[in-house]
Amino acid sequence: MSVAEPRFLRFDPSACGFPSAQVPPLPKPRLGALRWRANPSPSAAGWASFALGRYALHAAFEAAGVGRQGALLAPAYHCRTMLDPALALRAEISLYPLDEALQPDVAALAARLQQPGQPVAAVLVSHFFGRLQAPALMGEIAALCQAHGARLIEDRAHCLTLDALDQPSPADFVVCSPYKFVGSLDGGMLRCSPRAQAPARQSAAPVRAELRGWLHALRALASSPAAPPIQSPCGAALPPAGSHLNEVSLGPSGHYQQHLQARQGLSSSRWLARHTRLDSLAAARLKRYHQWHAHVQSLSGCRPLYPTWQEQDVPYMFPLLIDAAYPLFHRLKQCGVPIWRWDELLQSPCDTATRYREHLLHLPCHQDLSESQMGWMMGQLGEACHLATRQRGTA
Ligand SMILES: Cc1ncc(COP(=O)(O)O)c(C=O)c1O
Repeated sequence: MSVAEPRFLRFDPSACGFPSAQVPPLPKPRLGALRWRANPSPSAAGWASFALGRYALHAAFEAAGVGRQGALLAPAYHCRTMLDPALALRAEISLYPLDEALQPDVAALAARLQQPGQPVAAVLVSHFFGRLQAPALMGEIAALCQAHGARLIEDRAHCLTLDALDQPSPADFVVCSPYKFVGSLDGGMLRCSPRAQAPARQSAAPVRAELRGWLHALRALASSPAAPPIQSPCGAALPPAGSHLNEVSLGPSGHYQQHLQARQGLSSSRWLARHTRLDSLAAARLKRYHQWHAHVQSLSGCRPLYPTWQEQDVPYMFPLLIDAAYPLFHRLKQCGVPIWRWDELLQSPCDTATRYREHLLHLPCHQDLSESQMGWMMGQLGEACHLATRQRGTA
């Protein structure tokens, strides 16, 4: 599907009055999570530093000729920051469908590459929630891209990557987003294959921004790790359902700041990435992921997106499919449960994307969650599922 006029369907929660989250969705850096001996250096392994993954994507899109030479072909299920860099380049965006496990529909992707008219300059493939797409599938897509003169961009924003800097890739560009894992103020990285044209060198951040980064890191390191027990702000009445807006958006969203495109990540962020204990981070995330998975088995009205998880993949978040977006999502948001949901999507006929826009919740499983935070979130989910089932029974 080609999108000449980018038309987004966006959930507008402004009428719902959701409180802010009671538990941080991303980790904070902690003294106990650091090691003094540095991890392998990303720059020595060929990674360039960017302020965020979205700006690394911009550099990759630009080097691939997105906008100038052709369209971006991206997954139909996406967050806005995956597309913003293409919109900043005034590029046409095409979407390819995904199956229920969020694997690309290769036949549809191939059909778009072969389509006459606007050529495809680059194909973006994401490893959602840290679950790696199968190497054979990546190889198949790489071969298709090569055959049609398109660049392949591998989006590892949901993958730790810092623990596998040398991991080979069939892609021309690989992008990742280390701040999501180490809790730094910013941080994105890009690696180009020798056959791809490397983007221009990034400039260092101004001193004020550097100071802000170090202050943020030092404050977090000095703060106490466990949050106090949480009191639920839930009211008895359900909030209004909110609305869904259908809008054309020709440029990038407010989450994209063009002046950061050419900037390196902060030195504090790069330091944290080098000094975070990656093995204990991975183990803690897997533990939380499995806790969610086991808890959800006993609940009705929801299920894990993935029935199984490969232990070598470090999870970014726990993806949960829910049957009734209203009231379950609203109830949880009203209680301050930290939930992310990609409910602003460029429109496409993809059934998976259409359903997941409202029904796929992203729940935190990061290393910085305490037992009490985890217990509270699981309790809220259990209660909300129970209430939703009771309401269905009395309806
Ligand atoms: C799959 C995916 N790709 C790319 C990005 C952009 O990463 P960043 O937040 O580092 O700009 C995100 C952002 O969350 C993402 O979820």
